[in-house]
Amino acid sequence: MARTIVVASGKGGVGKTTVTANLGVLLAMDGKRVILADADIGLNNLDVALCIENRVVYDIVDVAEGRAGLRDALVKDKFVPTLSVLPSAKANCSDRVRTAAFAGIIAEASTYSDYVLIDAPAGVEAGFHRAVSAAREAIVVTTPHVSAIRDADRTVSILSTYNISRMGLVVNRVRGDLVNRGETVPPEKIAALLRLPLYGVIPESDAVGVYTVLNAYGRDGAAEAYRMLKEYVAGSGNEVYDCTRRFRGLFGRLKKF
Ligand SMILES: Nc1ncnc2c1ncn2[C@@H]1O[C@H](COP(=O)(O)OP(=O)(O)O)[C@@H](O)[C@H]1O
Ligand SMILES: [Mg+2]
Repeated sequence: MARTIVVASGKGGVGKTTVTANLGVLLAMDGKRVILADADIGLNNLDVALCIENRVVYDIVDVAEGRAGLRDALVKDKFVPTLSVLPSAKANCSDRVRTAAFAGIIAEASTYSDYVLIDAPAGVEAGFHRAVSAAREAIVVTTPHVSAIRDADRTVSILSTYNISRMGLVVNRVRGDLVNRGETVPPEKIAALLRLPLYGVIPESDAVGVYTVLNAYGRDGAAEAYRMLKEYVAGSGNEVYDCTRRFRGLFGRLKKF
């Protein structure tokens, strides 16, 4: 049985889809069988992020309504054979996938995979409820901005009313220079505020796209940060990326100019 992990945030645009896709790619590159389920039904983000949009034949609504089996709808990634995506529908038909049907689909997916990562929609309404109900674990994503932290806090309290046995935090788009200057809340402090274990810290990066992780350069640290997050989630590491390191010392001080 797979680990079923929902990636949630409260606030939109903080990086849920990016985290889901990158974490999925990295786990699959380790040989794990990974299924990414796009629970943001009506806004097909995940297939676009992974560049598989034009290979989608069936989507989750087709599966929920019996026009296709789950295996027919899953789109295999071109580069990593153990990764596949269950696409969401393009049209706005979110109400056609009931919570129980979604949970059934995820349960089936988890019988032939090691990880099912569920990319949740923003907000805490019906779509959120559907995504979270199908998962046993949660990753909450926030940025260091006050409005995102506040929404994450609300999301954490709502998540704690569900059958979630493990929950952790990813702080995305962290600027190490601002952390060093005390101009933004450090990720560790955000984790303490939200009372969550810190699974990962991802730097603000011009290179962040989904295949960031595949172009193995890591010049600005995002690739390394994602690798550390993957290891934390997989249980093979317990460190998070230090965004401030590049901005410390003489070289770091020079870089600021
Ligand atoms: N670490 C990062 N640095 C810079 N831009 C990022 C980072 N993470 C995500 N983004 C960008 O932020 C935007 C929103 O990300 P997305 O994953 O779609 O958020 P969500 O799914 O929470 O709405 C995208 O344009 C994405 O490329
Ligand atoms: Mg998204």
